[in-house]
Amino acid sequence: MEYFFEIHKDLPREGPGNNETTRKAFFFLKDLPSHPLILDVGCGTGMQTIQLAKLIEGKIIALDNHQPFLDQLKMSAEKEGVVDKIETVNKSMFSIDFDYDSFDVIWSEGAIYIYGFEKALVDWKRLLRKGGYLVASEFSSILPDLPKEASNFLKEVYPDIKTITQNLEIIRKAGYSLIKYLHLPKSGWEDYFIPIEARTSDLKKKYQGNKGASDVIDAELREMHLLRKYYEYHDYIFYILQNK
Ligand SMILES: C[S@@+](CC[C@H](N)C(=O)[O-])C[C@H]1O[C@@H](n2cnc3c(N)ncnc32)[C@H](O)[C@@H]1O
Repeated sequence: MEYFFEIHKDLPREGPGNNETTRKAFFFLKDLPSHPLILDVGCGTGMQTIQLAKLIEGKIIALDNHQPFLDQLKMSAEKEGVVDKIETVNKSMFSIDFDYDSFDVIWSEGAIYIYGFEKALVDWKRLLRKGGYLVASEFSSILPDLPKEASNFLKEVYPDIKTITQNLEIIRKAGYSLIKYLHLPKSGWEDYFIPIEARTSDLKKKYQGNKGASDVIDAELREMHLLRKYYEYHDYIFYILQNK
């Protein structure tokens, strides 16, 4: 984990995504109160938290269980002039204990899979006020008949991946209305990959001859290579849902 966190520390984001798609998804949320309360689950270093803070007059609770990411988020929020709208909370998403019906929006980019998409939809619903929204980006299958290399890779990294159709059924069963689903554009992947590529190239030099570090760096590069190569088979999908 030491080398993993050295790769990921103070990156602009910790998963695929970009401000353009955060904004696009946000604008589907209609009739929010003038000062909405948003819970950002698995916020990481908070690119999307800061973008959301720029779009609202309310408050965002940014929850993550890795303090260095939260510290980085605070620093960036300060630079961007939105620190007063953000409260960071170091807590596991598995022990969320906020009041029921308290949030206007629950937002989670690239992190809902940690809790499990289906289980999160069910368990987090009670935190949303009626008519509130849940917006989550979830890695989803797009094309069937994956080449063997891609399916082996998926078995390693996300054996529970579902198709969009399967996720829409999960959404229906959990009692949400689907407002819209959006594909993350390729640029959203590259905004995540490019800083990692630069970081791994520096660390490769720093850790020459260190097998432990090289294994972690190579695993990260391999994941990036395969995600790029089989890009058209799966994508991050933003599911924009409303609590009926
Ligand atoms: C793939 S990153 C996504 C981060 C951010 N949303 C983004 O898109 O840049 C997943 C995040 O979930 C956090 N995380 C992992 N396990 C967690 C848990 N049990 N509770 C809260 N956060 C967790 C990680 O620290 C990391 O910041």
